[in-house]
Amino acid sequence: MKSTSLSSRRALLVLLLHALFTVVAAYKPLSEGFLRNITSGGADFDPNHGSLLAPILTPRVPGTAGHTAVQRHFIDFFDTQLPKWTMEWYNTTARTQRGNEVPIANLLFKREPPWTKHGQANWLTLAAHYDSKSLPKGFVGATDSAVPCALLMHVARSIDQYVTQMHVEMAELGEGGTVEMDMGVQILFLDGKESLDANEPAFYGSRALSETWEMTINPAGSKYPNALSQVSLFVLLDALGAANPTIPSYFLLTHWAYKNMASLEARLRKLKLLETTPPSPFLLETKGRITETTDDYVPFMNRGTPFLQLLPSPLPPTRHTMDDNGAHLDLPTVKDWAKIVTGFALEWLDMMEVWPE
Ligand SMILES: *[C@@H]1O[C@H](CO)[C@@H](O)[C@H](O)[C@H]1NC(C)=O
Ligand SMILES: *[C@@H]1O[C@H](CO)[C@@H](O)[C@H](O)[C@H]1NC(C)=O
Ligand SMILES: [Zn+2]
Repeated sequence: MKSTSLSSRRALLVLLLHALFTVVAAYKPLSEGFLRNITSGGADFDPNHGSLLAPILTPRVPGTAGHTAVQRHFIDFFDTQLPKWTMEWYNTTARTQRGNEVPIANLLFKREPPWTKHGQANWLTLAAHYDSKSLPKGFVGATDSAVPCALLMHVARSIDQYVTQMHVEMAELGEGGTVEMDMGVQILFLDGKESLDANEPAFYGSRALSETWEMTINPAGSKYPNALSQVSLFVLLDALGAANPTIPSYFLLTHWAYKNMASLEARLRKLKLLETTPPSPFLLETKGRITETTDDYVPFMNRGTPFLQLLPSPLPPTRHTMDDNGAHLDLPTVKDWAKIVTGFALEWLDMMEVWPE
């Protein structure tokens, strides 16, 4: 008992320090012109032919050919369209109840400011899990979490030119080197969220990765003591793509970031840049504490990482059934998410700095 409350108190302290750092960081809303320039990805989210989504809508249980094919889809996309992003594997293994070992592979794609030294950048981390449940057989998990993965690919390509421009301009000015400016961005495709042979989620990938990052100690004198503390915000997308989502604010310490996302959504809606009809998915009230859900943020939260969870409550009606497929997606909702999450990333990364207005 005692050690639990001590470690949770320690986690809280780390969180408070994080909150202090992130609050001083610049956060400038995007101008109307910038909002209008954000694209939704359109046909690329078509479940049957869309270049981003269709290749993920296949069973992708760790250790199977479908799983490897989806990894290839991510890698090929970044290789061919986003060559400035670097890639890292974070592998581990899981053991089934029968004792078989199954490889688990988290995939990370990132862009770091060219001037930051090791242990200096802070990371906006956008994450979704790409593995699918082994049961029911043939389950493709369209909302869980094929759509979130495709959304992250779209965000990466939408912000890429601005990230490049920011790096070039900052380097020319000789800027960089302060907490606010050393912002990197990483897209994380988590593996092994689902159990391999039971119904409860397992979090193999997120547990291993959060531990690896916690144990990766930065050189003495670094701004951040370990790799995990470099995560300025862990944004987890899950169960998105069904119509009429409601997203509560799950966490008091990042409620301000949730509100920023909600007001961005409200501005997009007011400018008639969204395809869905009201109400907004954002409730604008905080739950304060998480009571009903567990997800991949948990191993990170337990280690003190501030997170924002984009998970509908209630969950989509097709949850964990064969109906969680392309036919049951609501494409206007998917495309609205593409704009909202892209806009949030642009604001977080302070891209008004490079917008020509
Ligand atoms: C608006 O977006 C397009 C890509 O969709 C881009 O080519 C263009 O440069 C953007 N406009 C500005 C002013 O950056
Ligand atoms: C991690 O696993 C992937 C897929 O199983 C494999 O292709 C890759 O080489 C592995 N990487 C490392 C560093 O072990
Ligand atoms: Zn699931």
